Amino acid sequence: MMLLGLLLALGQVERIHAASSTGLLDVFEVYQPVTFAPKSDNGCNTEMLLMDHVFGESYGVPFVGSYEPPSCKFDTVRINMTVTSSGHQYDRLALMYLGDAEVFRTSTAEPTATGIVWTYIKEMSQYNALWAEPQKLIFDLGNIITDVYTGPFNVTLTAHFSYTKNARSADIILPISAKNSASNSSSAFTVPTDNTTVSYTIPDTVSRAVVAISACGQSEEEFWWSNVFSQDTEDFTTTVGELYGYTPFREIQLYIDGILAGVVWPFPVIFTGGVAPGFWRPIVGIDAFDLRQPEIDISPFLPLMQDGKEHSFEIRVTGLNVTGETASFADTVGSYWVVTGNIFLYTGEKASSKKNTVPRIEAPAPKFTVTRHLAQNSTGGNDTLSYSVTAERTFTATSSEYSWSQKLSFSNYGYLNQEGYSQVNKQLTSGKNTISQLGSKSSSNETTFSYPLLVNATYGITTNSLTIDAWMERGLEIESSGGPGLSTYTFVSGPSQLSTTQSGNATYESVTGSSSVSTGNTADEFKSVANGVSYSRSVSAVNGSVVSDTQGAANKVSNDMTALGRGSVRSMLGRGPGSPSN
Ligand SMILES: *[C@@H]1O[C@H](CO)[C@@H](O)[C@H](O)[C@H]1NC(C)=O
Ligand SMILES: *[C@@H]1O[C@H](CO)[C@@H](O)[C@H](O)[C@H]1NC(C)=O
Ligand SMILES: *[C@@H]1O[C@H](CO)[C@@H](O)[C@H](O)[C@H]1NC(C)=O
Ligand SMILES: *[C@@H]1O[C@H](CO)[C@@H](O)[C@H](O)[C@H]1NC(C)=O
Ligand SMILES: *[C@@H]1O[C@H](CO)[C@@H](O)[C@H](O)[C@H]1NC(C)=O
Ligand SMILES: *[C@@H]1O[C@H](CO)[C@@H](O)[C@H](O)[C@H]1NC(C)=O
Ligand SMILES: *[C@@H]1O[C@H](CO)[C@@H](O)[C@H](O)[C@H]1NC(C)=O
Ligand SMILES: *[C@@H]1O[C@H](CO)[C@@H](O)[C@H](O)[C@H]1NC(C)=O
Ligand SMILES: *[C@@H]1O[C@H](CO)[C@@H](O)[C@H](O)[C@H]1NC(C)=O
Ligand SMILES: *[C@@H]1O[C@H](CO)[C@@H](O)[C@H](O)[C@H]1NC(C)=O
Ligand SMILES: *[C@@H]1O[C@H](CO)[C@@H](O)[C@H](O)[C@H]1NC(C)=O
Repeated sequence: MMLLGLLLALGQVERIHAASSTGLLDVFEVYQPVTFAPKSDNGCNTEMLLMDHVFGESYGVPFVGSYEPPSCKFDTVRINMTVTSSGHQYDRLALMYLGDAEVFRTSTAEPTATGIVWTYIKEMSQYNALWAEPQKLIFDLGNIITDVYTGPFNVTLTAHFSYTKNARSADIILPISAKNSASNSSSAFTVPTDNTTVSYTIPDTVSRAVVAISACGQSEEEFWWSNVFSQDTEDFTTTVGELYGYTPFREIQLYIDGILAGVVWPFPVIFTGGVAPGFWRPIVGIDAFDLRQPEIDISPFLPLMQDGKEHSFEIRVTGLNVTGETASFADTVGSYWVVTGNIFLYTGEKASSKKNTVPRIEAPAPKFTVTRHLAQNSTGGNDTLSYSVTAERTFTATSSEYSWSQKLSFSNYGYLNQEGYSQVNKQLTSGKNTISQLGSKSSSNETTFSYPLLVNATYGITTNSLTIDAWMERGLEIESSGGPGLSTYTFVSGPSQLSTTQSGNATYESVTGSSSVSTGNTADEFKSVANGVSYSRSVSAVNGSVVSDTQGAANKVSNDMTALGRGSVRSMLGRGPGSPSN
């Protein structure tokens, strides 16, 4: 039995909640609003229904539709995803594809008996190259209906097309996926079982290339940030059951022709049933409705790849194996991760570089430190486990015209006490990615990020009941000076900033024979600047109802964000002085 892991992913919850005017409870993710283009007289302004589908018994049965581009010229595509559901149901992961390319990864909120509704507006112009052609649209939301899990998900997807002189988007998009659209199936890889290698010929006309990676853990890996060392998975089997291993550290690696091209240290997304559902209704977890796709700029590999031959791309996910006081890559991970990638190619001035040169890679061995202490109680039973992992890594790939470098840092301090019934993990992932154009046109862009997470969950388990007492504090900070086109990580092209936190307490109680109850309070603070517009929102909820909500008006901060120094953007966000005030 793997009790603790199952405990962390909960469904079927009744709660006190307030109904909206539709009679349905509005659930929402806090994010900077994305708007549809105002009606313009210069042509394209079209709305198109892409899907109106009920996902009931839908495991392995995605929605399959055919998309035909509108006949007018457009450069902006945004999607309205509206979902309704009622009954009991787990949170579910959903992936949307245009052909073989994943374009959106989302997850569902858990419904109530009287029903919930949410709308998420998604920027989709980064996939303009795909929207320009007829496509098979595949939306995979695997759901199960039983006597207990009764809630279907009714999903309506509407695309809005317009011409807004939008930022640049990639000219060619090549999927790193299982390419199953021909058989009407999802194209996600399951890691570690699948071989994720695909091969492509990269056209000569390409001047920039970026790989976006979509990856999240499920099942044994959904709460990877709370996993223990593999030698500790059996410490508390008699009390809370088996734990999951490979440590709480994860690295996603991109290989080109077997050469490491860059890495992603993932954001710890928490779905709406995660830890204790009472945290996530009606405010869902950070990014739960739109899982970001971190980017690796592979422009330094263009001279190697532009020789008219096929080159291989492979995505791996790894945790750590620990022997004594030494940690090293396990080269594998628990079951399982859902993984795809997209290669975004920008055409431009033909590169003058010598063909077939391998980039210079500087990838010193990551520095890991680990500690672990398992203590017994007076009768010799396992009582507490404390463990920690820290990791530091730098990576640089350089060729004649571009240099990509990463500097990453990670720490996780874990402590299980009360014979495993209580667990706390404090994690921090942070880093900086830099892409530099070398030579006479030298310039560079930087993206920094920070993902703090602190979760304490305490379980009470008897033969006929389960209780959870939990609290959490988490955040997401991103600051980027921009990139060659619309980013799948920042959702914009130019400079942007994001600073958000969530904190709260929650309880869960389930007694055999009666429905479960989860209560909680969540405070959500959000500040951002994107597309030259600032936005802030401070919202808190108690037991399923919003109790306070303050939104900062969307203010245009500058017509040209690039003219702003970083200090002034910071002071606009109120994150600290741009310059000393005394
Ligand atoms: C999104 O779509 C839903 C119905 O599918 C609609 O009720 C709602 O008004 C739409 N939202 C926006 C901002 O267009
Ligand atoms: C699904 O929701 C749409 C509105 O978003 C509604 O028109 C439709 O009737 C619903 N279908 C079902 C089966 O509930
Ligand atoms: C894929 O789905 C389409 C639309 O539902 C259908 O016409 C086609 O026969 C299906 N193809 C396969 C291989 O199942
Ligand atoms: C994965 O697939 C590639 C391409 O088909 C092949 O070259 C490689 O040997 C495979 N790797 C493994 C571990 O099977
Ligand atoms: C204590 O932990 C060790 C190491 O995981 C394990 O082998 C042992 O079975 C545990 N003892 C109990 C009573 O669970
Ligand atoms: C890490 O441990 C796992 C499980 O024991 C094993 O399958 C894997 O080969 C190990 N990795 C390395 C690099 O030794
Ligand atoms: C010691 O821990 C074991 C479980 O690991 C538990 O069954 C036992 O009751 C504990 N003994 C005391 C004295 O707390
Ligand atoms: C976690 O919470 C439990 C219950 O509130 C408490 O007993 C425990 O000390 C907490 N752990 C830490 C490390 O704060
Ligand atoms: C840096 O980002 C800007 C957009 O903010 C873009 O115009 C420029 O091409 C980028 N430079 C590099 C080297 O990526
Ligand atoms: C948990 O709730 C208490 C009051 O009930 C509050 O003081 C505390 O700040 C809350 N913790 C978090 C992380 O929100
Ligand atoms: C939330 O629910 C819990 C458990 O029923 C209760 O103790 C608490 O007072 C409630 N809080 C509010 C503000 O209603």
